[in-house]
Amino acid sequence: SIEAVGAREILDSRGNPTIEVEVALDDGTIGRAAVPSGASTGAFEAVELRDGGTRYGGKGVGKAVDAVLDVIGPELVGFEASEQRLVDARLLELDGTPNKAQLGANAILGVSLAVARAAADSADLPLFRYVGGPNAHLLPVPMMNILNGGSHADTGVDVQEFMIAPIGAATFREALEQGASVYHALKAVLKEKGLATGLGDEGGFAPDLPNNREALDLITVAVEKTGLVAGKDIVFALDVAASEFFTDGAYQFEGAAKTSAEMQAYYADLAASYPIVSIEDPLDEEDWAGWASMTAELGSKIQLVGDDLFVTNVERLGRGITEQSANALLVKVNQIGSLTETLDSVDLAHRNGFRCMMSHRSGETEDTTIADLAVATNCGQIKTGAPARSERVAKYNQLLRIEEELDDAARYAGRGAFPPLRS
Ligand code: PGA
Ligand code: ZN
Repeated sequence: SIEAVGAREILDSRGNPTIEVEVALDDGTIGRAAVPSGASTGAFEAVELRDGGTRYGGKGVGKAVDAVLDVIGPELVGFEASEQRLVDARLLELDGTPNKAQLGANAILGVSLAVARAAADSADLPLFRYVGGPNAHLLPVPMMNILNGGSHADTGVDVQEFMIAPIGAATFREALEQGASVYHALKAVLKEKGLATGLGDEGGFAPDLPNNREALDLITVAVEKTGLVAGKDIVFALDVAASEFFTDGAYQFEGAAKTSAEMQAYYADLAASYPIVSIEDPLDEEDWAGWASMTAELGSKIQLVGDDLFVTNVERLGRGITEQSANALLVKVNQIGSLTETLDSVDLAHRNGFRCMMSHRSGETEDTTIADLAVATNCGQIKTGAPARSERVAKYNQLLRIEEELDDAARYAGRGAFPPLRS
């Protein structure tokens, strides 16, 4: 059972403070987890508690640390760490608000994940096995974000993430190698063209480009340079993060104010020109009608992923299922703030034919929990940035370890992760 709960303020990959929690059990086991943080956060996410004031520009998490030390910790002493649902229910009850504004979703998530880690260690199981059980065996397709724009870069590129998915690989290890080779080829292509090779928040290159098609053209050239075939070995995915540029009732995109219908026509065109299998947040988080019409139009051909739209929240996802607003869920543990609620969202999605993509945040740490959760849920897809920079590759490297550990039982999701491509 839980004996003590500790917490501290550490730094994330952007140099901002975040919270790390340690849970000690009476058998000597210690579970540790660190909490990520977004930049293009959805309006409906659970509340990340920040101190305000002048320290760290107001971004300190001292209050969240205190919430763990003074309120949560003493309450959890004596709980069985293996009773994750009871622990998480108690955390929600202690907070008492619908969006975790009292104790902070960052404080609550840190404890929730550290409890799971401690329980897994105590049971002498790897986290993916402890959470997923004996059937956890599917290695996700890494959706590698190799060109960053939007709120993750200081350029004029509107689309936030240009991702490559090595669906033709036989194993995760091979997929990662292919992704890294395209990443390096892209750097060479940018250099040849005199474009900047500096990196954005998620480790992808962040060149200033005249438009979004140019990014896809450059990536296509990079894929060809490696000898891999775009559309066969490597397919593309976007995270548009459209809520970021939806202002005054219009999409401020590529220098013009566009309607929802115009954006949808643009995407249909883009999907016809490039091997795009997935588009995340193509429309604003409140444009439910637009999402439904886009899904009716494009949903049988490509995956449409709700991130800011659903915020890993079963109520918003429930509406999306009823209205067929999308056909996939982006899964971010800190959007909802506990392991139980995250697993409930994945479960609801899967039971209703929605795919799930496990996801990092743009502000990350060396914590690798999401890699294990991707395998635990057999969700088949993960996005955790470029195949470079330690806070990104920490997750991919953990997946290498899991694949090795699963040995012959491991299956790489490959093109099966995207049903229209299966044949
Ligand atoms: P964020 O970006 O972590 O800055 O929200 C990631 C995403 O939008 O998927
Ligand atoms: Zn997103």
